[in-house]
Amino acid sequence: MSRLAAGVVLVTAREDASEELGDLTVGEDIGMTATAFLSVSLDPPLVMVSLRNGSRMDDLLDEQPLWGVSVLSESQRHIAGRFAMKGRISDRLLFEDIPYARGSATGAPLVRGALATLECRTEQRVVAGDHTLVIGRVLTAAVPSAEGGPLVYFRGRYRTLG
Ligand SMILES: Cc1cc2nc3c(=O)[nH]c(=O)nc-3n(C[C@H](O)[C@H](O)[C@H](O)COP(=O)(O)O)c2cc1C
Repeated sequence: MSRLAAGVVLVTAREDASEELGDLTVGEDIGMTATAFLSVSLDPPLVMVSLRNGSRMDDLLDEQPLWGVSVLSESQRHIAGRFAMKGRISDRLLFEDIPYARGSATGAPLVRGALATLECRTEQRVVAGDHTLVIGRVLTAAVPSAEGGPLVYFRGRYRTLG
């Protein structure tokens, strides 16, 4: 599968987002770099991400249904790198120097300058081996950055087009 070139996204969610939406001071933000992300349906608009069972994002999205996706650009490789680190305890410091806006529908951080951002509500979770397929309804979609190419992952390395 390392021969399948993939775009790179940052999946984000806020702990306690369902209860605390509107109170931006409560709940920690979590982020996870992912390539197993795809469009599933146009009507209704559904997307899917595959999360490793037991990862912090999987645990969080098991508890609450709201999440965000930022499609990373070629200039955001450092963001992909830091949110893929294993054994992190907290993501608070990781978000500190990243410009982001909070999604209006989910409270999830959406990276400024991303090629596209989505906000989603989980409709279905399908356990598949050691991962869980999380299918989400797209609540909002935006294209914050008109410029720049995609960040691509191919044969174990980040790449750019061209
Ligand atoms: C390029 C790249 C793509 C990744 N794609 C996924 C993915 O689609 N799903 C997933 O569960 N983990 C994926 N990971 C691994 C997670 O980013 C990583 O396991 C997680 O951030 C570490 O947190 P954890 O200790 O809670 O698992 C990917 C890592 C990299 C470097």
